[in-house]
Parts: sequence; C-alpha cells; structure tokens
Amino acid sequence: MSAQATTAAGPDMFRAEQAPEPCAIVIFGASGDLTRRMLLPALYNLSVDAQLPPQCAVVGFARTEWSDEEFREHARAAVSEFSRRPIDSSAWDRFCQSLFYVPGDYDNMPSHARLTERLERLEHERGIPGNHLYHLAVPPSAFASIIHGLGEGGHAVPHGEGANWSRVIVEKPFGHDLESSRELNKLIHTVFPEDDVYRIDHYLGKETVQNILVFRFANGIFEPIWNRRYVDHIQVTVAESIGIEERGGYYEEAGALRDMLQNHLMQLLSLVAMEAPIAFNGRWVRDEKVKVLQAVRPLSTEDVWISTVRGQYGPGVVGGRPVPGYRQERDVRPTSATETYVALKMYIDAWRWADVPFYLRTGKRLKKRSTEIAIQFKRAPHLLFREFLEGAPLAPNVLTMRIQPDEGISLMFHTKVPGSPLKIRPMTMDFTYGATDLAAAPTAYETLLLDAMQGDATLFARSDEVETAWGIVDSILSAWAELPPPAFPNYAAGTAGPEAANKLIEADGRRWREL
Ligand code: BG6
Repeated sequence: MSAQATTAAGPDMFRAEQAPEPCAIVIFGASGDLTRRMLLPALYNLSVDAQLPPQCAVVGFARTEWSDEEFREHARAAVSEFSRRPIDSSAWDRFCQSLFYVPGDYDNMPSHARLTERLERLEHERGIPGNHLYHLAVPPSAFASIIHGLGEGGHAVPHGEGANWSRVIVEKPFGHDLESSRELNKLIHTVFPEDDVYRIDHYLGKETVQNILVFRFANGIFEPIWNRRYVDHIQVTVAESIGIEERGGYYEEAGALRDMLQNHLMQLLSLVAMEAPIAFNGRWVRDEKVKVLQAVRPLSTEDVWISTVRGQYGPGVVGGRPVPGYRQERDVRPTSATETYVALKMYIDAWRWADVPFYLRTGKRLKKRSTEIAIQFKRAPHLLFREFLEGAPLAPNVLTMRIQPDEGISLMFHTKVPGSPLKIRPMTMDFTYGATDLAAAPTAYETLLLDAMQGDATLFARSDEVETAWGIVDSILSAWAELPPPAFPNYAAGTAGPEAANKLIEADGRRWREL
C-alpha cells in the first residue's frame, strides 16, 4: 500500500509497482534478535523481489565489534534460518554487496560521527541521493541516546523540505504508560516530525489484518449491517499457545495488557469499528482509527473491577507436552502478579456502536493459537420455527474473520436439512486463503519496511493513536493497582483461560467462542 497518485485528499495508497528510491537503511541493534529473525530476512526477500534498489545500502550499527564481512556472515546465517524463501546464491551475492557494518556505542558521539562518515562515503560511492531510513531495533532504554545522536549528527531532513528524506522506524513498546509514551513522542519529535515517524505494530503488516479493511470497504453488502441495529456484540480474540519464551525480564514489567492489548488488540478493534475513511492513506485511515479509540467509553475504577479479568497461567499441558507455570519461568519472580491473560468488555460511545459490547481477550499458554474477530449478529426478530427446534434456540449468525492460523472468513447461517420433518442446521460459508497464497505473500516486516521506504505511513501507529490507547490501558492499570493482589495462578496452561473470564461474558447471557 504505497503512494502513487495524489488526490485532493492526499496521496492514494496502493502498493506501488516500482521499487522505492535508493536509500541508506541504518539498523540500530544490528546484532540483536529482531534484526536476525525479522529485518535481515525481510530485506533479503525485498531484494529478491527487486523492491530494494541495488544502490541501497543496509548499514548495521551495534556494539558488537564486527567487520562488514562478519556482519554479512551473520546475515547469511539469519537469512538461511528465518527467510520465507531459501537462499539462492546469486540473489544472495547481490544482496550481500549492499550490507555494511559500523561498530559503536549508542551514547557515544564519536561512534555516531563514524556512522555519519561511513554513510556519506557509501552514498557517494553508490549514488544514493541522501535518503535515510533509521530503524531502532533496540530496547527502549537505547532510544534517547540514538535519537540524540541522530539529532546532533544532523541526520534528519525536515519533512517536505528538499528532495531527500529521513525517516525513523520505532519498534514497540512505545512507552510503558501514557506519560512515558508522551515523553517518548516528545523526544522523537525533537529530531523527526511526526510525518517521518513510523511506529511498527507488526499486526498491521499481516495480510489478514489489512484484509479487514478490504473486506469492509470493498464490498457493499456488509457496511449496511455493520452497526448497532444488526450486531449483537463483537469478540476479538488473540490467543497464544506459546508462553513467554526467553523474555521473562521484559514480560515481568509488561504483562498481557501492555504487551498485547495496548497495541495489537487496539489495532484490531479500531479496524473493525472505524468509519470508512474518505481516502485510503495514512492521514485519513489513521484519523478514523483514532476516533474509535477516543470514543471508547472511559472505564471508572468500578467498571474495571466489573468488566475486566486478569489471569496468570500455572503449570499445565500444551500440545501434549507438560509446561511450567509462569512463576516457574526464567527471570520471573516466584510471587509475580504479572498478568499473562486479560479479558474485558468495552463500549464505543458513537452512533454506530452505542451499547454494543466489544469483548476482547488475549493470553499466553492457552489451549491453542487463534486470532480472530467474530461479529455476532442479532437473532432473527421473529422465530417461525420454534416447534422444530427441539428446545434449543436458533444460534445467531456469526461472521468470523480468522487472522491466524487457518486464515479466512466464514459466515454461519441456518439451512434446512433435506427431508421431513423440518429440521434446521447451522452451516458455514467459508473462505480460506490457499496455503500457497499466504506462503507467497510478503511477511509483515517486508510490507512495513517497503511502505516506510515509500513514505506510506498508513500501516504504522501515529502518536495520537498510541497515546489514546495508553490512556485506556492506564485506567485499567490504575484500577487494578487499587485491588488486593490477584490469586494467581488462576488458569492452567493449555486451557481456555480463567473461569472468571467466562463469568464476565456469561453474566450478559453470551459465551466466548470456543478456542
Ligand atoms: C508481540 C508480543 O508483539 O506479539 C509477543 O510482544 C507476542 O508477546 C507476539 O507473542 C504475537 O505475535 P504473532 O504475530 O505471533 O501473533
């Protein structure tokens, strides 16, 4: 989805066929895990697809004392292990010629000066017209030094001035709460104007997440029923069967609310609930998404007590394998009160959604991995077939968007069982992405890196979006802080989550969808 034509409403965003302008991509944190697993494989695949102009230079910067050659070896191993395509030796040779490395400390000005020098040399040698994409693939503690270093080095070209551009990609977490996210935005804005800031939420790079907008706004038949008149409630589920892996230290400070709800679930919520934007571009799409978050009914302390449930997994069995409880994981306190599960009910106070509950849940070490959005419609207003239903009421129609795995869309409706007497059964109309469709599709990072190179911020989180989401999360965190410590663990690994989450939705006469 990238800029091509300009309309009165701004640039039109459809993925450009042509490769972006040559640029230097600087990866801070080049020896880290994110670079290894995501960025290098994504850049390699972009290069294979001729989306990375051959003049581009990818310059790794990190503390590890590597030469260009060592960085290239590291990159080769990373691409072999994590790329969606196997390495092709001539494609690799081409790509590897564009990899360079500068060792240095983030908070050391001479290191930044060396980086600048190297960039200038490379730009001169390769004919790169002074376009820079800086990727902060580092923990938040390193952000300030890097931004400061970039500011001092005069790296940022003010947006819209001159022929060249300088953009910065920032990885989550964007702060720890509302205040720290504001601080972070303020810091970034000292060097980069908002239009040059690309905050990655990798959910927005997923094909099936982008398809929410296409499904809603490229079809005429769904929008008329996408509202309080026809929709009973909406469920957003992001269930994971994995635990916290090797990230105990990070997760202890984050928890499910900060790690998943503040970003990924809020993104899904805003895409499913937003009004149609007047154009498909970074400004108008994000304006509509922010409005959804701004319309989320504020939660008082009492609302939080009633409408949210937090959980933490204990030992259990996942996929037939015994797994430890959260408190037994590495780098986790044995009495930790960090939540690995959260469920909540919220309302969007706007005409379209007045009084329609949105139930959101996410958790680790659940029964299975499943991310989906389910729109449950109201029942048929008058039931003609009561006497043929053998006591059970007709289940309402449900439209399910399966984000992952088993990506697709299905609609459940009722049909007559052939024969007599009259019997009714639920059926689903099912669209499933072909396995080959998705295997051939770019990864989230390929999509997002290309968009950033092309200057299309539609699929990136804007500062007001991030801050509004933090406002929602902060009210929950502060209400939780007033409660006595929760009785954790309250769900066994490998189950569907805490019993209290069932009570939350069942109190409204509804049920979670089966995991
Ligand atoms: C990350 C979280 O942002 O998203 C992880 O930090 C989580 O805890 C991951 O596992 C989930 O992403 P995906 O793409 O596997 O659904």
